[in-house]
Formats: sequence, structure tokens, C-alpha cells
Amino acid sequence: MPLDLTQLYQNVARVIPPAEWALFLPDIEAITRLKRERNAVILAHNYQTPEIFHGVADIVGDSLALAREAMHVEADVIVLAGVHFMAETAKLLNPSKTVLIPDLRAGCSLAESITPADVRLMRERYPGVPVITYVNTSAAVKAESDICCTSGNAKKIVESFGVPEVIMLPDEYLAQNIAAETGVKIISWAGHCEVHERFTAREILELRRAHPGITVLAHPECPPEVVAVADFAGSTAAMSDYVAREQPARVVLITECSMSDNVAVKHPNTQFIRPCNLCPHMKRITLSNIRECLETMQSEVVIDPAIAGRARLAVERMLAVL
Ligand code: 13P
Ligand code: SF4
Repeated sequence: MPLDLTQLYQNVARVIPPAEWALFLPDIEAITRLKRERNAVILAHNYQTPEIFHGVADIVGDSLALAREAMHVEADVIVLAGVHFMAETAKLLNPSKTVLIPDLRAGCSLAESITPADVRLMRERYPGVPVITYVNTSAAVKAESDICCTSGNAKKIVESFGVPEVIMLPDEYLAQNIAAETGVKIISWAGHCEVHERFTAREILELRRAHPGITVLAHPECPPEVVAVADFAGSTAAMSDYVAREQPARVVLITECSMSDNVAVKHPNTQFIRPCNLCPHMKRITLSNIRECLETMQSEVVIDPAIAGRARLAVERMLAVL
């Protein structure tokens, strides 16, 4: 079907000015053609910029949705518009596909905060305690764990063990937030998301004073003091669903900047207040490097076979819980 560029622009006109859109158009048209030629699909995380999210992505969502969808992709090539651990997860779940990431340097401060040796050390220190690794980790770290979780299912994964104590690595704040929700004792690690750790409760309270009645939605990677003063905490998909369900008159998403743009496109009656923090890793992905990676078929995500089997098991166990 030919690309209806007028319709496409109407979808994003509230968040992309016409002059910027004109600059994006050649890449959008080229990417659309290349996807057909390469038999490729683009999976994009909720933090991707609107020209990617609404302009070229075939499948969008939070980390959990992208993992689930990656498993069912039939096309030959998956381009992951997101960060490296997301591309690795897609490769683990659909190993016969060529998985490309437009910039191999698109990392994550959480994934960087822990090594496989650290996980082994935690096992030695707490023998018999189940080890849950956040999906924001390398495949090598996942391979050392019993099961993975995302922010969208962390509560259910913790509760699925039915034990009083678990290890959840490496996000200290997610662990504290889930411990408060479940009552399970969670042994964690001092890893933090460099985007969410910067929000403060004071900032939220000032926002509430400046915008009376505002709805505050926070990602659970935020410090517990921030979650405590929010109206709701959940994964990026859960925040988006909240806006769709509750249709708040005014909302602030305490998370990465592009989320508000992407959600605002679908909710013209909601006013989005936008104090937000940028994720420099997510922002490494652009239309032009998506185009380039489809032209050159680089950079491919490859996982050491010695760890892939065990890492896959941890991700598959997670998907079996939900
Ligand atoms: P979600 O799983 O909620 O999409 O979060 C991913 C992430 O990187 C948050 O910072
Ligand atoms: Fe990692 Fe935080 Fe960026 Fe998400 S927003 S990819 S957790 S650094």
C-alpha cells in the first residue's frame, strides 16, 4: 500500500512542526521502501522520538511488549529502535532473525551497573534465594539469573515465587518500589537509571502547586520518594494505558521526554506538562541511522552461544508467568 504522507503528518502535527517534518520526509520514505526490500520490521520503544514512533515503526511498546512481539515476528529482519538490551532480548526470543540496532552504543546505565560475576557473587552471599534480573541487563547477566522481569511485570514475577525474600538486580529503586507493593523482602544492587534517578519529590510537589489538579504518573525506576507523591506508578505502557483510560485533563509523565509527545498524539483533550529527562542512549537512534542500518544491514546483534541458551531461559520463564 502506498504511504499516505498527508495522513501520517496529520497524526503527528500536534508534536512535530511542519518545517521539521519536511526534513524527516526523505528518510521516512526511504525507510518505508527499505523495509519492503529487506523484508524488515521496526520495533520501537515508547521513548523513541515521534518521527520514529509514529513515522516508521511497525510495532511499538514497553520493554515487555517489545519482547513478546519480537517472538512472533515473521519478517527476516528486526530493526530495534531502542537500546541494546532490547535488541538482545529480541534476538534471544527469535534467534533465526537478523536483529539490527542502528547504533551499537545505545546502552543503559542500569545494564552497565552489573556484571555476570556480580550476580554470581550475590548467589554465593545469599544461597537458595531466587535471582530476578531486570530486563535492562546484558544477556550475560540474564544468563546468571533464574528469571527476568520488566517494570510491567516485576510485581507478578516477585509474587510468583511465593517466598519471603528474593534478589532483584540491578535497579535499587525498582526493587524498593516493588518491595513496598508486595511486602516481599528484596535484596538489590546499587544500580540506577540515569534518567529517572534525577526526579525528586520536591519537583513533583512544586508541579502540583503550579498546576492544581494535575495527575502525576511516574515510572517505577524513580526513587520511592517520587513514587510516593505520584498518583500512579507503572511501566511506560501502563502510563500510556492510564491516560487512555482516565483521560485526565492535565497530566505529567515523570519519565523520559519523548513519552509525552508519543502519548499526546492520541489524546488531544489532555494537556501534557513536560518536565522530563532525556535518555542519551535512546536518543542515539535517529531516522537517519535507521535508514543507514537498513541500507548497509549493520549493526547486527550477536549473542555468544555459550550464554544465549541460559539467558533465553530466564526471559522465557518471565513470559510464561504472564
Ligand atoms: P519500560 O519497560 O517501562 O518500557 O521501561 C524501559 C526503560 O528503559 C525505562 O527506563
Ligand atoms: Fe536505561 Fe534509563 Fe535510558 Fe531506560 S531511560 S534505557 S533505564 S538509562
